[in-house]
Amino acid sequence: VAGGCLSVVILGASGDLAKKKTFPAIFNLYKQGFLPNDQLQIFGYARSKMTSTELHNRLRGYAQPMKSSCILYFLLQVTYISGPYDEESGYVKLNEQISSAEESKCGTTCSTRRLFYLALPPSIYPIVSTMVRKHCMNPRGWSRVIVEKPFGKDLTSAEALSSELGKLFTEEQLYRIDHYLGKEIVQNLLVMRFANRFFVPLWNRDNIANIQIVFKEDFGTEGRGGYFDEYGIIRDIIQNHLLQVLCLVAMEKPVMLTPEHVRDEKVKVLRAVQPICDEDVVLGQYEGYKDDPTVPKDSSTPTFASIILRIKNERWDGVPFVMKAGKALDSRKAEIRVQFKDVPGDIFNCKKQGRNEFVMRLQPSEAMYMKLTVKQPGLEMKATQSELDLSYQQRYQDVVIPEAYERLILDTIRGDQQHFVRRDELRVAWEIFTPLLHRIDEGKLKVSPYKQGSRGPKEADELLNVKADYVRTEG
Ligand code: BG6
Repeated sequence: VAGGCLSVVILGASGDLAKKKTFPAIFNLYKQGFLPNDQLQIFGYARSKMTSTELHNRLRGYAQPMKSSCILYFLLQVTYISGPYDEESGYVKLNEQISSAEESKCGTTCSTRRLFYLALPPSIYPIVSTMVRKHCMNPRGWSRVIVEKPFGKDLTSAEALSSELGKLFTEEQLYRIDHYLGKEIVQNLLVMRFANRFFVPLWNRDNIANIQIVFKEDFGTEGRGGYFDEYGIIRDIIQNHLLQVLCLVAMEKPVMLTPEHVRDEKVKVLRAVQPICDEDVVLGQYEGYKDDPTVPKDSSTPTFASIILRIKNERWDGVPFVMKAGKALDSRKAEIRVQFKDVPGDIFNCKKQGRNEFVMRLQPSEAMYMKLTVKQPGLEMKATQSELDLSYQQRYQDVVIPEAYERLILDTIRGDQQHFVRRDELRVAWEIFTPLLHRIDEGKLKVSPYKQGSRGPKEADELLNVKADYVRTEG
């Protein structure tokens, strides 16, 4: 990426997100030559007292990508600064260090770039952002700020946070990460939908029976119980990650592939989502969730939810969109499953074989496949169901699929906001879920227990089969 000296500042450098995602992503970008070799500096800032060498050792010991041989040179660019989040002195020092490194690397006249990554709990976003705004803005080029969910807990708190951040930074400076937007298959959605004649005429209520967007994890909250219990599965996964995917599945074709045109269409489709009714919701909590010492013994926070969203517009009226997410289930998987309607005037008894489906698997092992009815090979004229399968591992053996965070950090450096959530999108996303979340918080909905390692509460299958008209096929 051309453009002068680049400073990346990771606030919350000693935390989990920084260690697991942010540092490894930056390192991978560096290793692949996407960051300026001799004009890069990385600052880690956090409260913990430690030296730069201690941070280097932690990073090296922690993340697999950082065990590579070119790590030494990378770590030379990483400086750790310890300081409080709520006192000016720390940020004054941080700014001095950024400025003096900029000066020594590229003199006093050339333009510079500053990227601030807030890998922090949201409760301190306002104070940290205020301090960064006051003391660390770049006088010689751009400053951009990456923030990560949770952006509030409901419409009111999200709007309060948005307006606080909005007073400090322009929308062009703010990059709200939803890492699902950086996943390969999610980025493929617009290409698949709008560049294939196969799909263009079929992608609507006339042909599609239902759409599922599913997230499953085969482990529980694992040490994050305290955080999770405050939010629950809808705020953790559905209101953000799955809803972003839904936008790309359901939106109209943007006029052009610019960030604003794409995001305008996403907002439009979100505005057509109808209020959620309780009969379209199944909630669950896995048995053993409350054994986590950080979870209150009487918690009724859902760790599983299946929700039907209904979009009232010309393309989708009547097509159920099932958003399903759960922890401690039978497998780890995220996929989009588009089920088509039955063929009219069926002469092959296709109903028995099952319907056509188009599946996009986000993880594990990216793939897209179509389930379709074919003649069973052999002497008899018998229909059977088979698959056209595009498995990325087989088809693109030499291509390394980038991690979502790598892509999104690079986009930020390039100034491309297409794969980031705009303020109005965030608002509508909260408008959709807030009434339901409040009813759940008030204990008005049933939360069914389910066994760890299961498919979730059995009511969820009923919801899918009966209310969403899903027809299960073998395989
Ligand atoms: C995070 C959630 O946003 O996404 C976690 O807070 C979840 O609860 C994670 O485990 C899933 O991300 P991925 O990329 O592993 O599907």
